[in-house]
Amino acid sequence: MANSRRKLIFNIYIGFYCSAVIQICICSQFTSSSIDQFNKDRGAFPVAINGEIFPWHELRLPTMVIPLHYDLFVHPNLTSLDFVASEKIEVLVRDATQFIILHSKDLEIMNVTLQSEEDLRYRKPGRKLTVLSYPAHEQIALLIPEKLMADLRYSVAIDFQAKLADGFEGFYKSTYRTLGGETRTIAVTDFEPTQARMAFPCFDEPLFKANFSIKIRRESRHVALSNMPKVKTIELEGGLLEDHFETTVKMSTYLVAYIVCDFNSVSGTASSGVKVSIHAAPDKWSQTHYALEASLKLLDFYENYFDIHYPLAKLDLVAIPDFESGAMENWGLVTYRETSLLFDPKTSSTSDKLWVTRVIAHELAHQWFGNLVTMEWWNDIWLNEGFATYMELISVNVTYPELQFDDDFLDMCFEVIKRDSLNSSHPLSNQAETSTHIKEMFDAVSYKKGACILNMLKDFLSEEKFKKGIIHYLKKFSYRNAKNDDLWSSLSDDCLESDSTSGGFCYSDSKTASNTLTFLREKVEVKQVMATWTLQKGIPLVVVNREGRSLRLQQERFLNGVFKEDPEWGALQERYLWHIPVTYSTSSSNAIHRHILKSKTDTLDLPEKTSWVKFNVDSNGYYIVHYEGHGWDQLITLLNQNHTFLRPKDRISLIHDAFQLVSAGRLTLDKALDLTRYLQHETSIPALLKGLEYLELFYHITERRNVSDVTENLKHYLLQYFKPVIDMQSWCDEGSVWDRRLRSALLKLACYLNHAPCVQKATELFSQWMESSGKLKLIELGMEGKVIKTQDLAALLHAIARNPKGQQLAWNFVKENWIHLLKKFELGSFPIRMIISGTTSHFSSKDELQEVKLFFESLKAQGSHLEIFQIVLETISKNIKWLEKNLPTLRNWLLISI
Ligand code: BES
Ligand code: ZN
Repeated sequence: MANSRRKLIFNIYIGFYCSAVIQICICSQFTSSSIDQFNKDRGAFPVAINGEIFPWHELRLPTMVIPLHYDLFVHPNLTSLDFVASEKIEVLVRDATQFIILHSKDLEIMNVTLQSEEDLRYRKPGRKLTVLSYPAHEQIALLIPEKLMADLRYSVAIDFQAKLADGFEGFYKSTYRTLGGETRTIAVTDFEPTQARMAFPCFDEPLFKANFSIKIRRESRHVALSNMPKVKTIELEGGLLEDHFETTVKMSTYLVAYIVCDFNSVSGTASSGVKVSIHAAPDKWSQTHYALEASLKLLDFYENYFDIHYPLAKLDLVAIPDFESGAMENWGLVTYRETSLLFDPKTSSTSDKLWVTRVIAHELAHQWFGNLVTMEWWNDIWLNEGFATYMELISVNVTYPELQFDDDFLDMCFEVIKRDSLNSSHPLSNQAETSTHIKEMFDAVSYKKGACILNMLKDFLSEEKFKKGIIHYLKKFSYRNAKNDDLWSSLSDDCLESDSTSGGFCYSDSKTASNTLTFLREKVEVKQVMATWTLQKGIPLVVVNREGRSLRLQQERFLNGVFKEDPEWGALQERYLWHIPVTYSTSSSNAIHRHILKSKTDTLDLPEKTSWVKFNVDSNGYYIVHYEGHGWDQLITLLNQNHTFLRPKDRISLIHDAFQLVSAGRLTLDKALDLTRYLQHETSIPALLKGLEYLELFYHITERRNVSDVTENLKHYLLQYFKPVIDMQSWCDEGSVWDRRLRSALLKLACYLNHAPCVQKATELFSQWMESSGKLKLIELGMEGKVIKTQDLAALLHAIARNPKGQQLAWNFVKENWIHLLKKFELGSFPIRMIISGTTSHFSSKDELQEVKLFFESLKAQGSHLEIFQIVLETISKNIKWLEKNLPTLRNWLLISI
């Protein structure tokens, strides 16, 4: 899409026995079965850009020919902003064929030759091949005059060149300004998911793993980095240098990386001897030290935890000035946005520290989950991203317990529940074929729901068994690809490794029959249980009804914004059923009770009489709980009497579930609000913030819709109710992550509500800042991309739209500049999705809904169709409905509360 200006130019060679008649030439190129298919079904084949028929019509590559090894040479010129390159791909032919299909996008292919093993042995020159190009599928076809024979190896040599890309994909240029005001350029790669094809012709699918030997030519003022350590540097005539890197381990194309830059670095050595270095622009070198400390700690942690050595001798982490996502896990050469890696002890906040730690933890986890074991296809990207996100929790909790990441993890699950309880959600494992669909797969569902259900599974299996299973999975599939089922099998069968057969859960002759049965039963269970979480979208609601000692459980699909009495409710429930590992605690003991709810309804008997029951202990399960009858009243009474009877995470989950149930029309708003009354005594900051978050949300909703009486009363209530804790806050920069978050949330709220002492202090600080460095025209600066980098435009628009006063401005900007935005970002990319949802999802009126609908329709008419459109429309409809149903209740509740 981007760079459509750039035309592919092909040097079309006419095969040595082809005449000028195209048809004869094509026929002579194919095997007899291809010819048969051609004759039968000519229309099924697409047309290449030179008008000839392209011999492959699918988006996925054929598997007749597979790559084994790439010898890649690249010479970027950072002055003319282009690169020349060549590669030799050693391929294995699995089935005889007369064409090879490769991916290639926006590359000018100059020459392609083919050598057989025999040619190589006798040093015969390569035979020149004809190249056809089919840009719609980002593919090229190399036509072979004679058949390639099955089970033989061949070497394909390709010379090519291109401009360094303008955006953030493929092999692109990035610039930064030195403190002295000089603008410098670097060249960097970013390939995931389907952009390696923009840097070199390749089999650009995760299943085609191969080894890569990379050589980079550069000027002496630069350094070159790649996945592997450098073996040697050769000096060339004219002063250029050429770095040769060690051959990589077997890996997918999307993990290949190289950078030519003039950065500085700091290095250290991990316990296993791996050399870890952090690289950044020279002026930012002083901000690299925390990342070095964290990456050394985290690398040690993972090598121990997985019981698998990081297989390379070095690991580089590089802060890239222009970077679209947060970071990218290229094997041995991880690239980061500057804000995801650099930490300035003088100016960065504790939240910055938490973010940097999380991102490093995430990308290092990928060195195992993703790099060593890779999903077979992008439909299972959650195996990569869900696992890396889950491992953030495990590793940061151990390496940096003071950052209290646990509670953030819980919040992350709540965030994705919002998305997953809309009908526009999708299953974790989801079909994805086109580049745009594949990009859209990198979303909250893959990352967050993936991580949350893994956490639930860990809680269900026990941490020890879960860990054993994932180690087994990693060992078994090292340097290979895996799919959902492979993971579940490994988690059931944790003892195939000969050294772990003493674990007591093994299928082996020496084990008793009952162990074998247990093993077999568990094997079936994990797969069956997890299929219900990965293959169907959405989140279940567990409805609990207690009568004496009997608990009646019922499951249904939880739908935010659709009420049970709505006509569509029934159809939206059909065929949804989960295997839910439920847990609960009661007033009578500290025990955690467990049960798998596999059917629509089930009954449990409590061992003794209890005054209350709380389900989903510590909120480890991915489900919402509704207590029918007196259930909620009993819990509200309990919280008011002594909230510490429940654990902090249980208090948080009660607040969360109660307000979710209001949105689903299952609980009245006043009951959920009554539940928050105990917050005056709440000592857990995350719980206090959760309650505050909802009250603030209602304030913003009513304010945006100009419901002034409710807004005023709510303001009054918030200031009166939270005054003691607001007054306890100071304007200092101290305390734990959560102390700081509470301070920031309360002071922001107080100022927003015009609390005089707060406004006075903030005005003072703002004037000071304006006098020093303020004075911006923000959105234009973001579009211009100089002072505010284009990479930050999406976050900027999102931030502007969050403020009710900026929302219309941001939305108008998006409508008016859509075409320009698409020149900066690819259609399905994260920034485009963030811009759309960030500027529209707060809308809550029918007029706004209509306006957004019309805009999306006009985009669809232009060929832009994204999943996010439906998510936004559903979200706005849900907001409208919420207001219609709950505004009168909120109004009345405030009248009796202030
Ligand atoms: N593999 C991704 C990078 C990526 C994102 C590639 C989207 C293609 C499309 C990387 O591991 C990642 O997940 N990065 C996150 C940061 C992480 C801490 C959640 C990101 O970029 O936001
Ligand atoms: Zn990731």
